[in-house]
Amino acid sequence: MSVKIIGTGSALPEKIVTNDDLAQLVETSDEWIRERTGIGSRHISTGETVVSLAARAGERALENAGRTAADVQLLLLATAAPETGIPCAACQVQSILGAAGAVAFDLNAACAGFLFALHTACAYIEAGIYENALVVGSEVLSKIVDWTDRSTCVLFGDGAGAAYVERCDEPGILGFVQHSDGTKGEVLQCGGRQLSNPYISLPQEPSFVKMDGREVFAFAVRQVPACIQELLGRIGLETGDVDLYVLHQANRRIVEGIARRLAVAEDRFPMNLDRVGNMSSAAIPVLLDELNRAGRLRAGMTLVLSGFGAGLTYGACALRW
Ligand code: COA
Repeated sequence: MSVKIIGTGSALPEKIVTNDDLAQLVETSDEWIRERTGIGSRHISTGETVVSLAARAGERALENAGRTAADVQLLLLATAAPETGIPCAACQVQSILGAAGAVAFDLNAACAGFLFALHTACAYIEAGIYENALVVGSEVLSKIVDWTDRSTCVLFGDGAGAAYVERCDEPGILGFVQHSDGTKGEVLQCGGRQLSNPYISLPQEPSFVKMDGREVFAFAVRQVPACIQELLGRIGLETGDVDLYVLHQANRRIVEGIARRLAVAEDRFPMNLDRVGNMSSAAIPVLLDELNRAGRLRAGMTLVLSGFGAGLTYGACALRW
């Protein structure tokens, strides 16, 4: 018994913001952003929400899989920026899709969120609790980014990606590795609501993403290759056995650094960050969906998905397409 991705989908906000557009807001340039990050433009919400993007991506994944919302038994939504504390975004997506029979809940592991949600879905399916799951990563980070901070506002984009997975007899997901390091939480953070009740009231200042970019960069280039090696070792594969490495899209130089450390040719590392920026938990499923719809994923191919982000959290998953 295995768990296989049967369909993928994605959704991006309509508005595209170029580096030149950002240069009108903060002191930056297209040249700086491209050279340091590889990003050329990103989609930014002018009304789309985590829920609306997730619902569209989920609908497309179901269509792609040839399944309907009524089939879905588990709906997991990874997000770091939900519109509401309660109800969770997954339940709102369930309602829009009409997935009445699904159990739905959110999960937050920042940019590794989709991978952690996929692993959770697999664990449920392997345990025999559910037979399938719709796993979504959806982010509207533009509402938690400080648009006056040039070191962060140029990096992020909004969007959602989804994968529909099912219990299956052919080989599918081959293995997972997940890690968290809460001692490094301060290098990438964004506050939430402060404590306020009749007995204490802390200042309710809006909080935005704050990041030590160099620390995150160093962490990613060091830990992601180690994590991928750990995964491949566990399932008895070599780096050369992997057809495509679908990595979290944070920075072109990070992806290139990981490729170098793994001694794998860069053409095995597809990228779309030039057009979408860093969409946190949506990055991996959106890239996967683009590859799928472009016909670049053939049956039997071996893929490694790997993500990293705030927490710190990081992980990798190997699968047979
Ligand atoms: N435009 C122009 N200059 C900028 C800038 C921008 N958008 N952002 C920062 N700078 C400036 C800095 O102020 C600094 O100037 P100074 O030397 O006068 O102080 C200079 O560029 C170099 O900054 P530095 O932070 O050293 O640049 P860098 O090469 O490390 O690149 C990041 C910065 C953020 C692009 C890079 O560190 C990075 O991508 N880190 C990972 C971030 C990430 O992916 N986070 C999400 C993880 S899920």
